[in-house]
Amino acid sequence: MNFVSHRAVALFVCLCAPLTGWAQNRTPPDPNHPQNTARAIYLFAERCGECHDSSKNSAPDRYALNSHTPEEIMAGLTAGSMAQFAKGLTDIEVRYIAVYLGGRPLGADAVGDIHAMKNACPSKPLGDIGSGDWNGWGPDLVNSRFQPNAGLTAAARVPGLKLKWAFGFPEGNSAYGQPSIVAGRVFIGSDTGFVYSLDAATGCAYWSYKAKAGIRTAITVAPVGGKTLAWFGDVKGDVYAVNAATGAGVWMQRADTHPIARVLGSPKLVGSRLYVPVASLEESSGGNPHYPCCTFRGSVVAFDAAGGKQIWKTYTIADEPKPIKKTSLGTQLWGPAGVGIWSTPAIDTRRNVLYVGTGNGYTAPVPNTSDAVLAIDLDSGKIRWSRQLLPNDASVSNCRPRGDSAKSETCPEPEGPDYDFGNPPMLRTLAGGRTLIVIGQKGGDGWALDPDRRGAVVWHRRVGPTADSGGMLWGSAADNERAYFPVTGRRGSDPVGLTAIKLGNGELAWHASPAVAAGAPDAVIPGVVFSGANTGMMYAFSTADGHLLWQFDTNKEFPTINGVAAKGGALNGSGPVVSGGMLYVPSGYADLGGGIRGNVLLAFGAE
Ligand code: HEC
Repeated sequence: MNFVSHRAVALFVCLCAPLTGWAQNRTPPDPNHPQNTARAIYLFAERCGECHDSSKNSAPDRYALNSHTPEEIMAGLTAGSMAQFAKGLTDIEVRYIAVYLGGRPLGADAVGDIHAMKNACPSKPLGDIGSGDWNGWGPDLVNSRFQPNAGLTAAARVPGLKLKWAFGFPEGNSAYGQPSIVAGRVFIGSDTGFVYSLDAATGCAYWSYKAKAGIRTAITVAPVGGKTLAWFGDVKGDVYAVNAATGAGVWMQRADTHPIARVLGSPKLVGSRLYVPVASLEESSGGNPHYPCCTFRGSVVAFDAAGGKQIWKTYTIADEPKPIKKTSLGTQLWGPAGVGIWSTPAIDTRRNVLYVGTGNGYTAPVPNTSDAVLAIDLDSGKIRWSRQLLPNDASVSNCRPRGDSAKSETCPEPEGPDYDFGNPPMLRTLAGGRTLIVIGQKGGDGWALDPDRRGAVVWHRRVGPTADSGGMLWGSAADNERAYFPVTGRRGSDPVGLTAIKLGNGELAWHASPAVAAGAPDAVIPGVVFSGANTGMMYAFSTADGHLLWQFDTNKEFPTINGVAAKGGALNGSGPVVSGGMLYVPSGYADLGGGIRGNVLLAFGAE
């Protein structure tokens, strides 16, 4: 899952990293800027990987390094025993490495805690968990992002939406987490690793919890074993359960032992089990001629939700990676690898399976589970079927790091287009009772699959441009009649925007074309679909015909209730949610080449 606009230059990784110009002189001067991840990966592989990627010379491996804070790594590289290996790097380059290994920006430790802010709530018990909540990735287990009990009625109230409060993420560099609205509270993670529980109506803060690294997943909240817990994952591959009322930690587990594994897709709770998808940063590392590409395999992990014990783990690639050959630089190559899972599973309780959309392979030959939808048994973790929608898609980023004509020998041959699934599958039941798995692909295609015929294609429709200029990134929404696919692009002439497709037959219902559409997932309530743009503009359209009902420019500064200087930016990565008559919009996701940075959560209510 890379967003490659001009192959060698831009990479988008999902959450990962960005990408422009890491080998050129175009890196932003701010060490905390997420666009420097690719530069950091390069520097690490060149300077540090020899020992720390191979455990040579008894060096601690990447797990051990990953457990350090960015501040500790800075100290080691400036005054400690590792300073010798950082010789010749500029101060800012050392910071890039510290931020990359630390998994979060420098500087938030002192100010990220709610005690350092001005908006503490009087303590209050959790409210009731109800059907009007937006719990986790969406209000349901099937990823529709459709809230039928939104407390907002389209025609009458949406045009009157007004900003009620804004919360600034302290030292945040990118609005990161996907908000959940449960039991009268907002639960949201940040790129600094702080998770916040805010009052949904007023924005005052009940607690903060400091995780080890940035949190992009939505947060799922439910009672289990006598307590109400909140579960989420971080960008170092860890999964957490905290007490939803108090923020006290309950358990933490690794979802994967690969050193650059990450959890970006939101965990799903079914009964007493938590299902967690795993992706990795290896895709943005693989093009580096010094990186031993590639050893990561995507997976889904089932945990006991109350205690955190792992119940099963199912890899998307059955075979373990093995050494293949060495490059002319002596870099060891491995495979098979890839097929990460970037998004949340859809739960099919009737068939007792979960469905995931998979990423591309990193190595050729490419496993037939890549760019596919997999059905996995909820009890056993066994893969019941796999439906590949694009074969032979092997891709890693930055294969021509200096604009060279020769491709890095660490890159797969042949390379695929990187049209994988960052959208999660959605499950819809049509009026006649037929069930469909509906999913948008990064290459710009919408699909409907039959869950009773091993994912056979029911319909397929071109929705937007290919990933070279955008495509479908993080998620879509669907009510009972239509799927709403947000499509993003890069050039002004791209036919981007929000496209509504009829669920029954895959035909076009309507197309609304805001100036630049978004990579962010959208959200739908009866009569209205909310979809943002990379420009920062938030829109509400009528579901009937796509006409514009309301818009709001989030790309500006906002006074915040917690006293933190904050501005909005690109609407990408995480998307809007609706609950209790209010609309919540995280603004400023910058982990995409060129994304406008911001650090604000906006809450709107109807007059
Ligand atoms: C020649 C091998 C070698 C290279 C190159 C190297 N390291 Fe290390 N590193 C080690 C060894 C051995 C240790 C453990 C002993 C120590 O702390 O001195 C270590 C320890 C560390 C630690 C402390 C980890 C801990 O668990 O205590 C950090 C952080 C670290 N290295 C980062 C880096 C970074 C960043 C680079 C590249 C700029 C780098 N190292 C380059 C061998 C190396």
